[in-house]
Amino acid sequence: MEIKTAEFVISNTNHRMCPAPEIAEYAFIGRSNVGKSSLINALSNNKKLAKTSAKPGKTKLINHFLINKSWYLVDLPGYGFAKQSKAKRAEFHEMISNYLLSRTNLMCLFVLIDSRHSPQSIDQEFMQWLAENKIPFVIIFTKIDKLTKNMITKNIEEYKLEMLKQWSKLPEIFITSSKEKKGLSEIITYIKKLTLKY
Ligand code: GTP
Ligand code: MG
Repeated sequence: MEIKTAEFVISNTNHRMCPAPEIAEYAFIGRSNVGKSSLINALSNNKKLAKTSAKPGKTKLINHFLINKSWYLVDLPGYGFAKQSKAKRAEFHEMISNYLLSRTNLMCLFVLIDSRHSPQSIDQEFMQWLAENKIPFVIIFTKIDKLTKNMITKNIEEYKLEMLKQWSKLPEIFITSSKEKKGLSEIITYIKKLTLKY
């Protein structure tokens, strides 16, 4: 499947104002600066669709994009942004958890992890919360262009081993670079397969 059209629909702070859940939806989450917005742009072949920045904390709203006029990609704010006030962090947390718990059309949440990092508690705790709340998710490792081939393999194997200390089964894993457009067709194929089930 090719992405032929990608259109911005709406930005929200309130999950109740999001588009009616009539078509399948896929959202992107992860630490600030991990590359969520860049991945949405790379997948949709449109550098200007989602706003990106070298500074963390760029995406602040729930952003819906309509793809091929048939399903949504959703760009979410990142978590773990150190420079944020406690109150702002709590507000973000509430916005994101309300969104995740209410979207009946959310087929899969893509949890992005920087491929250079070892498992961090903020991501692990978040994934535990997803599992407890039965929110389907997969992991996408990002920015592999910053690593050598050997380092990619080594880091991801170590990541899996660490996760297996806590998880009986690992989620599906995708390995990507938005910069070099790697691993994108696998994600599109995965989305296509799930969308047929909606
Ligand atoms: P927030 O909206 O702040 O939570 O960040 P985000 O997760 O949406 O990250 P964003 O897409 O804005 O990218 C953050 C920075 O990482 C930008 O400077 C991007 O150019 C860079 N970046 C994103 N993906 C890649 C990648 O695959 N490779 C490289 N080298 N840089 C990347
Ligand atoms: Mg962003």
